[in-house]
Amino acid sequence: MEKRELLYEGKAKRLFATDDENLVISEFKDDLTAFNGLKKSSETGKGALNNKISTELFKLLENSGIKTHFVKMLDDNHMLHTKVKVILIEVIVRNIATGSLSKNLGIPDGTILPFTLVEFDYKNDALGDPKLNDQHALILGLVDYQDELDKLRRMARQVNDILKPYFAEKGLNLVDFKLEFGKDKDGNIILIDEISPDNCRFWDIKSGEKMDKDRFRQGLGGLKVAYEQVLNRILGK
Ligand SMILES: Nc1ncnc2c1ncn2[C@@H]1O[C@H](COP(=O)(O)OP(=O)(O)OP(=O)(O)O)[C@@H](O)[C@H]1O
Ligand SMILES: [Mg+2]
Repeated sequence: MEKRELLYEGKAKRLFATDDENLVISEFKDDLTAFNGLKKSSETGKGALNNKISTELFKLLENSGIKTHFVKMLDDNHMLHTKVKVILIEVIVRNIATGSLSKNLGIPDGTILPFTLVEFDYKNDALGDPKLNDQHALILGLVDYQDELDKLRRMARQVNDILKPYFAEKGLNLVDFKLEFGKDKDGNIILIDEISPDNCRFWDIKSGEKMDKDRFRQGLGGLKVAYEQVLNRILGK
């Protein structure tokens, strides 16, 4: 598969065209950003870890019947995947209250939620990714029908139903995570982007230690060691 022109550069990945119009290549960068790009850094090897973790999780989800954009991992920093029209909604799934949920609603950090919460944010950096309800999403034309919003929620819950017990078995609490979706050439809604400690929160079940990008957000250090731990636990090492 030939890597062609740069289509888009985001904060964590570069997207490249290929010789197949339906396929693109993501290059996972070592850059780290938080607080909507205000805090910046870089950690050698972070991109490769996220590529490998995402690869394993996309394979797991595909094997469990979730349609994803994943085709294959090409090398340490590159993933080949289906090209979609991105749905500009960040789908947030929460099992335990922390971060902005605790801050905005005053729910004490670490509270186990009575049921899994699924929220929508508008994927719009200029606006600071504000919260959306279904009517906002329809008024903005982010999807065409209510059914599609229901489908996003359903798929996000299915992903949680697969990943939460999977990580629990590996000694990690899946606290919350952000998913992105898009429409493929046939209009099917599929899971896209990446599933990594950059956009999931993992807490060690025994020690409570944070094993995700909060180490960077909160200046805790040891980010790469934590990401390596997550990959090793996925690989059963
Ligand atoms: N299968 C796909 N087809 C097309 N675009 C995709 C696909 N998967 C992910 N993307 C998009 O590619 C970009 C990846 O870049 P990156 O993750 O660095 O973005 P970001 O900086 O986190 O956020 P932003 O999307 O706001 O730039 C994202 O915009 C994502 O929505
Ligand atoms: Mg991203």
